[in-house]
Amino acid sequence: MVRVEFQVNGERRAEEVEDRTLLVEFLRQKCGLTGTHVGCDTTQCGACTVNLNGTAVKSCTVLAAQVSGGEVTTVEGLASGDALHPVQEAFIQCHGLQCGFCTPGMVMAIEYFLRERPASLDDDTIHTALEGNICRCTGYVNIIEAVRHAAYRMYPDLPKHVPAKEAA
Ligand code: FES
Ligand code: FES
Repeated sequence: MVRVEFQVNGERRAEEVEDRTLLVEFLRQKCGLTGTHVGCDTTQCGACTVNLNGTAVKSCTVLAAQVSGGEVTTVEGLASGDALHPVQEAFIQCHGLQCGFCTPGMVMAIEYFLRERPASLDDDTIHTALEGNICRCTGYVNIIEAVRHAAYRMYPDLPKHVPAKEAA
């Protein structure tokens, strides 16, 4: 057993857990934060993505013990009170989901991508940003639209993306 202690969505959590406890297990089972999903358990699908010390990580690949002293934000901690984060709003506006299973991980990965103000919002850049997140049902078109929608809301002066066929 090992004692872990860190902040989750601004609240201190301290527990004795088995050494092998994954961060995603800790979040779901000890904290009741079931918005962080497990789709594969093998670092492929991204459904378990959370923010750890400012960076998006796959929480099925991190031991809870490795997080001691750190800060974790899950999808439940992204909104400010009643105000959803622009990425969450964008998923609603653009209908960027169907079953919603991948959505929390997508939202967390996109939040990380946009926080640094991307230089470009072309398809290749967005595809690269999302290459660690798999959606099995939307076809991605509306998810990509949601990325741009959120980006323009967060950075109103960003040049608008012009699809290649319109620019030609
Ligand atoms: S559950 Fe972590 S990447 Fe799939
Ligand atoms: S919305 Fe169903 S897996 Fe992405």
